[in-house]
Amino acid sequence: MTRKPKPAPPGSSADIEAMIRVDHAGEYGAVRIYQGQLAVLKRRKGAERSVETIEHMAEQEQRHLKAFDRLINERKVRPTALEPVWRIAGFALGAATAAMGEKAAFACTAAVEEVIDEHYASQIAALEDDPALKGQIEDFRADEAAHRETALKEGAEQAPGYKLLSETIKAGCRVAIKLSERI
Ligand SMILES: [Fe+2]
Ligand SMILES: [Fe+2]
Repeated sequence: MTRKPKPAPPGSSADIEAMIRVDHAGEYGAVRIYQGQLAVLKRRKGAERSVETIEHMAEQEQRHLKAFDRLINERKVRPTALEPVWRIAGFALGAATAAMGEKAAFACTAAVEEVIDEHYASQIAALEDDPALKGQIEDFRADEAAHRETALKEGAEQAPGYKLLSETIKAGCRVAIKLSERI
């Protein structure tokens, strides 16, 4: 008699590997988005305050990325094969939104962080058996929520075409998450 292999239950090691892989990819994407925004806004007169705000958020993304770099190594997780895609797509998304204006750049952050907040919340709920990883994700989720707050305070919702821009970016993030879990 043959048995079908069961899908990985939540909290299993395969499941946790997928979590680390997608989070590592996501934090890398976040770093690239901010690099793209800064490349544009640093050349714009009058954008100094936005540059400062974005630089602060980018430093926190670097901290998140470093932590997931460490986890990838410690737990021997295969990183996403899509790194070259996120390298280009992240930077392009950042540069394009910044080119549309400072408020559009913040609209991008608000949209991305809304999806990441949901994503981290669902991981936290599934990580009862891995308090170390759970604690780290809780810590990062608080930063992401603060980034979203900052972006909204900076006028994200006043960006031209906000609704469409936001929905498009959120849809893209959800696809990127699905892909990076597996590939
Ligand atoms: Fe982050
Ligand atoms: Fe963030």
